[in-house]
Amino acid sequence: MKSRALLPRESWEALREARALRLPALLDRETARAMSEQVLAARERWTEDFGGAQFSLGRAFYTHLETGRERHYFKDAPKADVRVEAALPGMQAGVRALVAAFVSEPVLPRPGFCGPGVHVFLPGCEVAKKGGSVHFDLEGLRDDAERGSPALSLVIMLQPAEERGGLRIFPGRFSGSHRATAAESKAPYETLAYDAGDALVFESQRLHQIEPFAGASPRISITAHALRRPAGHWEVWF
Ligand SMILES: [Fe+2]
Repeated sequence: MKSRALLPRESWEALREARALRLPALLDRETARAMSEQVLAARERWTEDFGGAQFSLGRAFYTHLETGRERHYFKDAPKADVRVEAALPGMQAGVRALVAAFVSEPVLPRPGFCGPGVHVFLPGCEVAKKGGSVHFDLEGLRDDAERGSPALSLVIMLQPAEERGGLRIFPGRFSGSHRATAAESKAPYETLAYDAGDALVFESQRLHQIEPFAGASPRISITAHALRRPAGHWEVWF
């Protein structure tokens, strides 16, 4: 995956001072467009999530956790990675290399989990109409130690929605309650828009939401989660 080098200010240290970091033109537009076409061409290999409300290339852990299909996620993880690699050769390794550059520490695949994958939201889907849920990315952070560890979520936009579909970042940060409180989800948020090839990085413990979107194009984005292990390396999954 051809991506530009990160700037010194595009780092984990800088993220700790901000709610989110935008990495403009991480992929050039042609690369992003070609990758979104490859995702669309692999439609037969997409995973249906939430009964067809959204789709993935590869398998997203949170959708399986929330629908009681964790076993299926882990059982199919190696094959899911093969499907991702077939459609987007080098993407998973490329994303891990980007995370390593961002955190300046070694990065490994999270054992047993699926590697980075792609979310596809079709026009008119529930998220398009209402926006996503207001949430923390805690699903892969499975105990208090993991939830208290440095963790990040990286989204690389391959094909933005035609209208809106950015990411709302709230001031709230996970502090023990898995669900956002009413006060947290009503707090003033910042909306970060992205063009094809732009990326956003935020702490997984930061409250966020996909903005509703409109238009005839699917919203297609690569997603990866990363968690720092006490040994000093990070592990990446989808
Ligand atoms: Fe999220």
